[in-house]
Amino acid sequence: MKALVLAGGAGSRLRPITHTSAKQLVPVANKPVLFYGLESIRDAGIREVGMVVGDTEAEIRRAVGDGSEFGLEVTYLRQDAPRGLAHAVLIAREYLGGDDFVMYLGDNFVVGGIDGLVDRFRKERPQAQIMLTHVSDPRAFGVAELDGDGRVVALEEKPEFPKSDLALVGVYLFSPAVHEAVAALRPSRRNELEITDAIQWLIDRGHRVESTVITGYWKDTGNVTDMLEVNRLVLEGVEPRVEGEVDAVSELIGRVVVEKGARVAGSRIVGPVIVGAGSVVRQSYLGPFTSIDRDCAVIDSEIEYSIVLRGASIDGVGRIECSLIGREAEVTPAPRVPKAHRLVLGDHSKVQISK
Ligand code: DAU
Repeated sequence: MKALVLAGGAGSRLRPITHTSAKQLVPVANKPVLFYGLESIRDAGIREVGMVVGDTEAEIRRAVGDGSEFGLEVTYLRQDAPRGLAHAVLIAREYLGGDDFVMYLGDNFVVGGIDGLVDRFRKERPQAQIMLTHVSDPRAFGVAELDGDGRVVALEEKPEFPKSDLALVGVYLFSPAVHEAVAALRPSRRNELEITDAIQWLIDRGHRVESTVITGYWKDTGNVTDMLEVNRLVLEGVEPRVEGEVDAVSELIGRVVVEKGARVAGSRIVGPVIVGAGSVVRQSYLGPFTSIDRDCAVIDSEIEYSIVLRGASIDGVGRIECSLIGREAEVTPAPRVPKAHRLVLGDHSKVQISK
């Protein structure tokens, strides 16, 4: 079995904060979301990965390389433009050959990995197997309609009036039967070759399409609450480790990771927390479910249940909670007079000020 990982798409900037152009590199607990997918693929016993890339190929290559660090053999497959998920299968036809494969969308995160699903597929050998999850706004997803026995009868891409709240998760298992389906497709209303249409094609021709409903699913939709929640879930599973420096007066409680080259002084950290490589935490409190990325500075401050991205600094501010702080952002106190907030906010920023 092979894997087809989709890390293409346009190089547009992402809401709310990530200024990386590849959305597959959004960090979750200081690690790009794409890496979790690659690890899940490896843990499911798959070695060969076809990585579909577009405009952001260089960035993805820099992050993933030849895949050997993940125990994988990665072959890059260039897609000329984001012409749809089924188009990605089309251009990977030769690479995939006659093998079964798992198609994994690089911006999706499945808590607990995919071993169980891959095992089930290997045992039952349907033509396709999909994963579904209950979501609050199905209009942003492919949506499945099930019959009374839980069998998939219809799929619709981003419907205006969804027939259920079951969204398609971006991990699909296929037998080579999908190639015929993909070759038969016409572009959709949004001018893409839709994988939902390919699966519908299989269903309509009596092929066996199995589904499983899962929990613990996330993708970046620009929703900070969801991002903080997935950060929490991942941090809950980290093993404590101190590779940086922690001075004698600092206190680390619970699951705390201090990465190489990070320095903690005069501070109290209550895990789960990660302090990324090269970051400095001085005279501060870091509370549960906080990820501090590489090269940040937290000085004379308190922060909890938050994500701080690379190179940001927080200096001399009281309690920050439920926040996502972007790359190289600076948070500092305002001078005493005049008593006013001074803000330089990027596009799509959101600020809540306590009075
Ligand atoms: O995330 C789950 C959803 O993914 C499903 O519920 C939908 O049915 C499915 O169509 C897909 O919808 P999105 O609109 O969210 O897909 P998006 O365009 O964000 O692309 C998903 C990933 O695939 C992303 O990492 C970019 C990559 N991609 C996308 C396209 C269209 C490619 O590599 N090539 C492409 O042509």
